[in-house]
This record gives sequence, C-alpha cells and structure tokens, in this order.
Amino acid sequence: MRQDPLAYLSTELDTLRQQGLYRSLRVLEDRQQAATHFDGRSVVNLSSNNYLGLTTHPKLIEKAIKAITDFGVGSGSVRTIAGTMSIHMELERRLASFKKTEAVVVFQSGFAANAGTVAAILNKDDVIISDELNHASIIDGCRLSKAAIKIFPHKDADAARRILKDLPAAQRKLLITDGVFSMDGDLGALPALSSLAEEYGCIMMVDDAHASGVFGKHGRGTIDHFDVHGRVDIQVGTLSKAIGALGGYVAGSRALIEFLYHRARPFLFSTSHPPSVAATCLAALDILEQEPAIIDRLWENTRFFKAGLQSLGFNTGLSESPITPVIAGESIRAMKLSDRLFEEGVFAQGIAFPTVARDKARVRTIVTATHTRDELQFALDKFQKVGQELGLI
Ligand SMILES: Cc1ncc(COP(=O)(O)O)c(C=O)c1O
Repeated sequence: MRQDPLAYLSTELDTLRQQGLYRSLRVLEDRQQAATHFDGRSVVNLSSNNYLGLTTHPKLIEKAIKAITDFGVGSGSVRTIAGTMSIHMELERRLASFKKTEAVVVFQSGFAANAGTVAAILNKDDVIISDELNHASIIDGCRLSKAAIKIFPHKDADAARRILKDLPAAQRKLLITDGVFSMDGDLGALPALSSLAEEYGCIMMVDDAHASGVFGKHGRGTIDHFDVHGRVDIQVGTLSKAIGALGGYVAGSRALIEFLYHRARPFLFSTSHPPSVAATCLAALDILEQEPAIIDRLWENTRFFKAGLQSLGFNTGLSESPITPVIAGESIRAMKLSDRLFEEGVFAQGIAFPTVARDKARVRTIVTATHTRDELQFALDKFQKVGQELGLI
C-alpha cells in the first residue's frame, strides 16, 4: 500500500497540539458585527478589523446588491484581459482623490498589493531596509523580489540610518514600514523615516492597511496623520478592514501605477473583484467623506476600552490605535486567556509565536465604532474576572 507522503504534516500538527498552539477555526454563524455569534455562542466581538462597522452598513449592502443586479456577480477575467469594468476604474479614481495621489491601482487583497508591488519594482541588485515587525505580505514581497533585505529594530530610525550609511550611494533602496503595526497597534516612525528616505535617496513605502479609515482627516491614513503628504512614494491601503469589503490598493504617481499595471503579478494573473466589491468600496468612501463622526465614535470607544484595560492593570504594550494587545507572556497563557474569555462571552483571539515573539503572546483586541458602552463594559468585566483567575492582574 502507498505510504502517505504527507504523513509528516500530521506529526507537525501533533507537535502544535502538545505545545498548546493548535487552533481550530472559530466559525461566525451570524453577521460580522460588534455583538454576534461564533461557534454557537453569543459573544462581544473584539477580533474583527471591521473598525467602522461597515461590513453590515445598509448603504453598502444596497450598492452591492444594485451592482450585482446591474453587472452580475463576477468580472470574468483578469484586469489586463477583459476584467477591467468601468466601476473598477471609478474606484481607482476615487481612491486617488481620497489619498491625494496622482493614481491608484486596486489589487485583490492588501496582501497581494504589498507582495505584488515590492516584487515588481525591485530586483536582485537592489536593497530593502525594513522594520522588523513589518507585515508578512511585505516580507514575502521582499523575498520574491530577490533584493538584499536589511532589517532594522522596530521603529529605530537611527539603526536604519546606520544601515543606509554603509550602502553604496548608487544602489536602489526601498525603505519600508507599516503605518500601524497589526499586532501591537503602534505607529511606524513615518516622519523620521521619510527624512531618511530623502537624505539617502530611498523609495519610501508605507503599508497603511490598519490606518485607512482610522487615522488622518476622513480616515486618509498615517500619511495624513503625520502630514507627510508628498514624502511617501508608495502608499498601500486595504479595502478589507475599515472599508468593510475586500481588497488592497497602491496609491502613488501615475508612472508607478502604470508600471504596476504592466508588471505586478497578482494584478496580471488573478481575476479582478466582482463589481459588487467595487461598488461597496465606493459607498464606504462616501461614508468616510460625508459622515466623519463614525471615525470619532471609533476613537471614543478606543479611548474608553484602552483606559479600562489599563486601569485593571493589564499590560497593553505601546498601542496608539484601536488595536490593543493584552500581553500574557507564554503562548499557553495567552491561549488560555482567549479560551476563558470566549467561554464568558468575549471573543478576543490569542496570538502566539511565530506571529509575535515567544514571550509576548497575547490576546489582540480591536473595538469598533459600533460597539455600545454596555458591550465594552461587559467585555472589561470579563477581562477582570478571567485576568484575576489566571493571575495576570
Ligand atoms: C499590516 C497589514 N498589511 C496587509 C494586510 C493584508 O491585507 P488583506 O487582509 O487585505 O490581504 C494585513 C492584514 O491582514 C495587515 O495587517
């Protein structure tokens, strides 16, 4: 009988189980919203990236349904063959004016935008200077590009300068950081890094996946928040988080965008969004521009919840955004915290190595604009109960 050539995978999974790191997927049986149902349980949901609650916003649903009725459910092709619909072009124009750049290209996901862009614009002769906590999609793009990769300690612009000093002036360089770091919720060193990029002639790139719709005027992102407009050559944003739908985009010069139309592999070799996704994103941009109070509500909830966790005595790291980690230490402790909270009716996902350092396992919380004070207070009460039970506070 043929031996299973994939048997080693089961061994690896057994190791994860022994280490307490095996995770079953939590299944959402309801809408993605602040209070909802996962795995048969009614929970306050602190695990989604649905910052503004737009996944279920009536105006977005209405526009998505209309686009399906008008244009069908799929685009039927990649963008470069027959899959560029007028609504895709309209979304790119709207995003460019939202981000105040010459042009925008939309990708199927934020992951594809990061990985596809870095891999397209660099080659083996080039060098990338990258924050140690940058997102996996940046890391994969760096590897795909075959450029040399130099990592600087988190947010340490002085260390980035030391790396830059030793590089040949003529070598092409990309300096890259997340705008908001997805596991810690702190902000990239944009002003210092933009100055360095100018001084050393680097391409400056920022992944604003968690900042679009959250930071800056009308949610324009960290470039607006730090007022470094015109100093960042490549801005990446997602349509999958605060915008509530799916996708990613690159904002920059017309030449950059046209180059990506020709060379970014996810753009060239993967089918474009269904028209309903583009319509949903357009409706989300209307909301950001016309109803900025929704962003104020997100920040009011963020301040309330973060202060609540801190006054209970939890270690919330250095977060400056609605992403607030509750650091538990060992993986097993973080997973226990997450599991016990879930039993008590609060969904806050546990995050462990290799996503974060071995001794910094945590549960990661994100509040949204649509959480009520009662829901947030309920969650804080449960954090207090379980935190005391596990000796974290
Ligand atoms: C910092 C960061 N960049 C990029 C992405 C990828 O975005 P998407 O989920 O749209 O692929 C994520 C999300 O998972 C992220 O956290």
